Amino acid sequence: MADYPDFYYPNEDVIKNAHIKDWDSFNSEAMNDPEGFWEKHARELHWFEDWNCVLDESNKPFYKWFKNGKTNIAYNCLDVHMQTYRRNKLALVWEGENGDVLTHSYYSLHRETTKFANILRSLGVKKGDRVTIYMGRIPELMLAMLACAKIGAIHSVVYGGFSVEALHERIEDSESRVLITADGAFQRGKIVPLKEIVDEALKRAATVEHVLVVKRTGQDVYMESGRDMWYHELAALPIAMQNGSHTEIMDSEDPLFILYTSGTTGKPKAILHTHGGYMVGTYTTLKYVFDIKDEDRYWCAADPGWITGHSYIVYGPLLNGATSFMYEGAPNYPYPNRWWQMIEKYGINILYTAPTAIRGLMRFGEAWVNRHDLSSLRLLGSVGEPINPEAWRWYYNVVGKGHCPIMDTWWQTETGNFMITPLPCMPLKPGSGTKPFPGIEMDILDEDGNPVAANQEGYLVIKKPWPAMLRTIYKDPDRLVSQYFSRFPGYYMTGDSARRDEDGYYWIIGRVDDVIKVSGYRLGTAEIESALGSHRDVAESAAIGIPHEIKGNVIYAYVILNNGVVASDSLAEQLKAHVGYEVGPIAKPEKIEFVDSLPKTRSGKIMRRVLKAKAQGLDPGNLSTLED
Ligand code: WTA
Repeated sequence: MADYPDFYYPNEDVIKNAHIKDWDSFNSEAMNDPEGFWEKHARELHWFEDWNCVLDESNKPFYKWFKNGKTNIAYNCLDVHMQTYRRNKLALVWEGENGDVLTHSYYSLHRETTKFANILRSLGVKKGDRVTIYMGRIPELMLAMLACAKIGAIHSVVYGGFSVEALHERIEDSESRVLITADGAFQRGKIVPLKEIVDEALKRAATVEHVLVVKRTGQDVYMESGRDMWYHELAALPIAMQNGSHTEIMDSEDPLFILYTSGTTGKPKAILHTHGGYMVGTYTTLKYVFDIKDEDRYWCAADPGWITGHSYIVYGPLLNGATSFMYEGAPNYPYPNRWWQMIEKYGINILYTAPTAIRGLMRFGEAWVNRHDLSSLRLLGSVGEPINPEAWRWYYNVVGKGHCPIMDTWWQTETGNFMITPLPCMPLKPGSGTKPFPGIEMDILDEDGNPVAANQEGYLVIKKPWPAMLRTIYKDPDRLVSQYFSRFPGYYMTGDSARRDEDGYYWIIGRVDDVIKVSGYRLGTAEIESALGSHRDVAESAAIGIPHEIKGNVIYAYVILNNGVVASDSLAEQLKAHVGYEVGPIAKPEKIEFVDSLPKTRSGKIMRRVLKAKAQGLDPGNLSTLED
């Protein structure tokens, strides 16, 4: 085995101009007075009215931040820049998978958002209404989100890779009256028929009155009269601009969005974030972690349909007045150099992506990367799952040429912003996200809630509230308490296990619950099982995650068929396709195994650990609680 250094020390050129050159003093300032720290950063943003209390802890765990402050995140993303040189600066550079290019200055992003907002208002959307957004990675997705924020509507973005049932469930739970979509999305040279999926989902969901359709791919789509409208037709009407650009004044604690994510049991839950605290958190963390500068071109290659996109494609970059790049399609389309070509073409300085994408591109070899001049890169980032040291070193050496620090950011839909992350000035260890962001207090606990010793595995918890934390689960506040604040009273339980080494560096091990990370995407076993269960031949099923070289994890499903149904390979394929149709292609099981029974505890809970061991040919361990 090759000898690798313990620490990768930061590059002098990177630190020379960094916002923070000394992590220790920055951290102690924040830790000595976390509320003062966040307050100081809140003051860098615009508030229509000041708060009278930074943190209100009177109703734990329903914390309030910047209480009674009045602001609007969209105003801070767009309007504030209209009075500065940033008015003419590029906010967004976008490239379609088919080579289309589109750019927005802050001025034009502001203007287009205003149009979008006026159209939503003309459809009767008001403050507090939920709007579902279901699109590919196109600029209109960003506009739609900002337009909702501007008028105080609550957006609920559903990832464009989800399918009929996943979309239906999210529309229905949020009771959206308006849905924004596109005719289709380009993905790997094919068209994802978004509008068709919407039509199917709406046969199951009754709440939607209006569907706004953005034209992207141009194929014929069904338009239901009275319900469906082309966005570009409405945008050409006088109503789109004549109402001016009034921005709703929002209370700091007013909801900004809900985003559905998978939990331990049952249906996905709607995580709710607010205008005030979320704004302060995403602004501050992006500024320091990716050391955002005006001259940067920053590329977060995630999808806006997940939290990474919400916080670090849309809100964080715009709050910082940054220039972002967005790409519509697949990383290896038409060839495995697509990303590297675009980094060279657009002079990208910061690349933030997921380990699965790195591993996926790594398998094509260095030659594809080396064909391109990537010298513009200064910082790299990773998110979504633990990055294995091999992928880390490839990213560092081959992509970053050994001089770009990797910001391995650990966080969650619920946390809103980075929680464990390096800053560019910190020495790095491949596979570790280093330490909690200044102002964030975390720990690792054993079963009884005691902190574990160095290098011992335990439950990762967050000890103190932070501004961008989730406020509630929409329509289900009790679940906030039961899911996150009950296991270790007073502390937020992350659902991850981790260890901390002798240098205080955190190492994430993985989920301790029934959440599976597939290619960095978060899925719940319950969603997959419920999709399988909706097939006429399935009596019962159990889904588990199995480690996979590129995807991190893949799904295996054990299925008990109804009496009289004969197991076959073709039925297994049908079931995979069924899950793909109901939930989405990312949820398709890699393997389906037909069984006669499932290992259960005496209380009837499926023992996934036994199935996992079986699937990997490992020892299932202690079976004393097994019923049969
Ligand atoms: C995992 C994504 C290791 C973790 C932002 C967490 C990570 C879950 C990392 C949240 C990382 C995220 N290293 N694991 N850098 N980042 N995770 O809500 O298990 O989609 O609990 O948010 O992803 O997934 P979510």
